[in-house]
Amino acid sequence: MQLGGLGSFVLISNPQAIQEIFNQDSKFDVGRGNRLAEPLLGQNSLMLLDGDRHRRERKLLMPPLHGERLQTYAKQICRITEQVASQWQVDQPFVARAAMQNISLEVILQIVFGLSEGERYQQLKPLLTDWLNMTDSPLRSSMLFLQFLQQDWGSWTPWGQMKQRQRQVHALLQAEVEERRTSGNEARTDVLSLMMATRDEAGQPMTDEELRDELLTILFAGHETTATTLAWAFYQIYQRLDVRERLLKELSGLGENSSPMEIAQLPYLTAVCQETLRMYPVIPTLFPRILKLPMTIAGYPFEAETTFMLAVYLVHYREDLYPNAQQFKPERFLERQYSTSEYFPFGGGSRRCLGYALAMLEMKLVLATILSKYPLALAENAPVKIQRRGFTLAPRGGVRLVLTGER
Ligand code: HEM
Repeated sequence: MQLGGLGSFVLISNPQAIQEIFNQDSKFDVGRGNRLAEPLLGQNSLMLLDGDRHRRERKLLMPPLHGERLQTYAKQICRITEQVASQWQVDQPFVARAAMQNISLEVILQIVFGLSEGERYQQLKPLLTDWLNMTDSPLRSSMLFLQFLQQDWGSWTPWGQMKQRQRQVHALLQAEVEERRTSGNEARTDVLSLMMATRDEAGQPMTDEELRDELLTILFAGHETTATTLAWAFYQIYQRLDVRERLLKELSGLGENSSPMEIAQLPYLTAVCQETLRMYPVIPTLFPRILKLPMTIAGYPFEAETTFMLAVYLVHYREDLYPNAQQFKPERFLERQYSTSEYFPFGGGSRRCLGYALAMLEMKLVLATILSKYPLALAENAPVKIQRRGFTLAPRGGVRLVLTGER
């Protein structure tokens, strides 16, 4: 595929070829293909690293976002969902994606940054919201792709405004890190505290710049992706009575005092999230893989520097894997096990999404909390189309919902 000034790419939708790439990922660079994101995220961002530094950073960041650690966050996610949903008024339509962004921003601020109140939280929240909204229109997101628009001529140019906000965000994050160093961090369970306490194989902690860039990376990578997927899930659930009824039946089978982790293990709820991510992979092609040396893939020879785009979207719509691929059918995931190169909404190999476990947990808990307590309906009849939003694919208009007041 030739993409004008952006160069040429090899687009792959063949699972065997994709598996070959995942299995040999030390032969590819990925971070340098993400350079577009450097002005936003900083040069220490995990997304921009390759080789040993990438391996080191992932090792440090993995434990706080996986395994038992996640269980401690589950109740907080349900509480945040309740806070947002309790504001909805009967018969007043709202945009699902925006509501879900409120939830996912709050989840990251509380669970990752460890902030839920106080002056710094009050200052950071609106600043981060503005900073993230950089990509909320095709015009504004084009700044990321077109370097000539990246001119910092003060607050009256969009890029200048972005940079100014970023400096303010950096200063606030730096102050937070310094305060925790002096006041002690031991009793805290948020991801930032764990990142500050961790040490690499040489016994070294993460530097302040690394902490700051990774916090912004997690926010950038984890907030819109999760919110957008949830909006698509609501779209399908409220279009399809059969799906909704089966979900409600499964949820009502849980006892009064069921724990959030029991909810997260429900098979049909899990399948609904998986099918949503199949039909609407928010990142439709993975991070570009750049070949470091000549190599043969699927029997074809490729030269060094060839850039591969692994097309999640195309694989997820293959009729040989997903019959009636245009149809939302969560049962597929109950009937069949897909391999890591047949189904990969979170990517694969050593670059697999760092936040997949948190994202899956969050989606299930948000859906379960809202479905069991808030009777909703779609507030629009026309089919919702897919629209590009910065780096992601999102529902045009964000999916309008309304609280109906009756089941
Ligand atoms: C439904 C939600 C999400 C989806 C669909 C998603 C998808 C992805 C994809 C496709 C990649 C690229 C993987 C590759 O090229 O192989 C990625 C990378 C990444 N994601 Fe996610 N993501 C989601 C949520 C999150 C969350 C909640 C976080 C943080 C808590 C997060 C943090 C990251 C990071 C840091 C990377 C870069 C990993 C690296 O370069 O090693 N993501 N994600």
